[in-house]
Amino acid sequence: MIKKFEDYISRVKKFSSQDSKEIESFKIEFLGRKGVINDLFSDFKNVPSDQKKEYGQKINELKNLISKKYEDLKLGVKQSSKSITEDYTKPGFPISSGSLHPITTIKNRIINIFSKVGFELSEGPEIEDDWHNFTALNLPKDHPARDMQDTFFIQQNPDILLRTHTSSVQVRYLEDNPPPLKIISPGRVYRNEAISSRSHCIFHQIEGIYVDEKVSFADLKQMILYFTKSMFGKSKLRFRPSFFPFTEPSAEVDIYWGLETETDHRITKGTGWLEIMGCGMVDPNVLQNCNIDSEKYTGYAFGLGLERIAMLIYQIPDIRLFFENDVRFLNQFK
Ligand code: PHE
Repeated sequence: MIKKFEDYISRVKKFSSQDSKEIESFKIEFLGRKGVINDLFSDFKNVPSDQKKEYGQKINELKNLISKKYEDLKLGVKQSSKSITEDYTKPGFPISSGSLHPITTIKNRIINIFSKVGFELSEGPEIEDDWHNFTALNLPKDHPARDMQDTFFIQQNPDILLRTHTSSVQVRYLEDNPPPLKIISPGRVYRNEAISSRSHCIFHQIEGIYVDEKVSFADLKQMILYFTKSMFGKSKLRFRPSFFPFTEPSAEVDIYWGLETETDHRITKGTGWLEIMGCGMVDPNVLQNCNIDSEKYTGYAFGLGLERIAMLIYQIPDIRLFFENDVRFLNQFK
């Protein structure tokens, strides 16, 4: 009789399965209505009375063992099905990546074009003083040309302002570095202007300056030709005589873009031409203000607006789109 129990115990102990159907039939075989345990109980009446106690204990032992085994196996199935939902071999969720702002992309392209011909990068502060933004650039106080750039001043200190152009960086660089020098300085600039589809209070410029012995206007023209060819693949240019206090002679450069699209019409006001930069030969007064011998050295400088160029290249009809940070707009530049 004891042998019979030992056989059952070893069978129960050996049994193992991950399959819930198999586990259920194991339970029915032992604990079901016509199962082993019930059979053993019905045999109870045939057990000699001196063995009844031991027999009863054995049945209970076996029953507990089976119940425990059944619960353990069920738990195993549950855990393994749980680990299926945590399948580490599954592909991950897609990560949506960001992109560079179109102005940054254009800036990087321009830096790249100029760095190929030896221009180095230099940056300056956006909060400037009067000297670097105006006075050193041949724009003394009360000079009427200051009105060309409506300025944001800091109320408590009229000597401090938000730079109106990146030309302030040339002054900083010229003060600290002896010629020959060749730099470009990209950055944000500020003007107190009415905001329209073509202009904005905040925009971006890139300034370029080259100072050395015998630098001429012809060198400047050649550099602009190289730039427009590399940037736009077009180089039909117009140099219009102009005035800047810090350059003499001065010019504004227009590029012929054409009138193929409606946006071309809007950006160029129906002419096909768009002004892309101001430029000229560095005024000797500026060199002297920065302690550079203006008898020995000459230089050219130019400044261009990044938004204008980005508008042309990406066909963007309104400058304000660059500043609204609407993801539907920005997503198009991925
Ligand atoms: N600083 C001028 C502007 O903001 C552009 C310029 C730069 C013109 C350098 C000449 C030389 O309009």
